[in-house]
Amino acid sequence: MNIYEKCVGAADYIKSKCDATDAIGLILGSGLGAVGQEIENKTVIPYSDIPYFPTPKVEGHAGELICGELDGVKVLCMSGRFHFYEGYDMQTVAMPVRVMKLLGVRALVVTNAAGGVNRDFSEGTLMLIDDIINFMGDNPLVGENVAEFGTRFPDMTNALSPELKTLARECAKDLDIELKSGVYMAFRGPNYETPAEIRFASIIGADAVGMSTVPEIMVARHANLPVVGISCITNMAAGITGKELSHEEVSLTAKRVFNEFRALVKELIHRI
Ligand code: HPA
Repeated sequence: MNIYEKCVGAADYIKSKCDATDAIGLILGSGLGAVGQEIENKTVIPYSDIPYFPTPKVEGHAGELICGELDGVKVLCMSGRFHFYEGYDMQTVAMPVRVMKLLGVRALVVTNAAGGVNRDFSEGTLMLIDDIINFMGDNPLVGENVAEFGTRFPDMTNALSPELKTLARECAKDLDIELKSGVYMAFRGPNYETPAEIRFASIIGADAVGMSTVPEIMVARHANLPVVGISCITNMAAGITGKELSHEEVSLTAKRVFNEFRALVKELIHRI
C-alpha cells in the first residue's frame, strides 16, 4: 500500500467521525498545545483509532485529532505531532498534513518552540516563519511522486503563504503583539545543537533552529495547502548566552508567552 492509499484510508475513517471541510488545520508545538483544550463542540479521535496513522512513541502522550470550533472557527487540530527524531520516516512525520488536505482543510497553521539564533531575539520572542532551511538530512517528498497531491518538483519560493504571512503581521499589529520574522532551520535532533552548529546556522542565514515543522510545511506546499508558521523562541540557541539548554527552560518560556501566543493564533484563524 502506498502513502496515498494510506492517507485516503485515514481520511475516510476521520470523515466517518467528523466533517473537517473548510476547517483550519492547526499543529501546536511544545508547550503551546493547551490551545487545543479550548476547542468546543468537538470530536476527539485518538491517533490509535485512525487506520494507517502513526502512533506517538513518547509515553504519556496518546495523541489525538480534535475536530471542532476554536472561538467559533472550524478547526482540525493535531494534539501531539510526530517528530523525525522519534524514528519515524519523513513521509510518516508529514502524513497528517496530507490527510488534512484530503479532508478539505483550507489552510494550515503550524507552531513550534525554537531556539533563537538571531541576536535581536530574546526568550519569549514570537517569530513568523518567513522561510525554511531543511537541514534534517532527509525529505518527505523523496520517493515516487504522489501526483494526487502535487507535482514532482514543487516550487518552494513561496513555501509559506505570502498572503497568510501578511495576515499574521496584521493580526500581531492590531493586537499590539511584537512579531519578529525570520528563517527557521530544522535539525534532526533530538539533542540541542552545539555552539559550532549554531554559528554555522547563523552564517547560512537561520534566525531560529528547531526539530520539527519543516516536513509539514514542505508537504503542505507540495499539496498546495496554504501554510503559515509561528515559532516561539523559548531560548537563545546554544553558545549564544553560554547558558546550557534544557527542556524545562523551553517549557517555562512557552508557558510564559502562552497568552500572547494564543491570542495571536485565535486572531489569525478568525481572519483566514
Ligand atoms: N534547538 C532546537 N530545538 C529547539 C530549541 C533549540 O535551541 N529550543 C526549542 N526547540
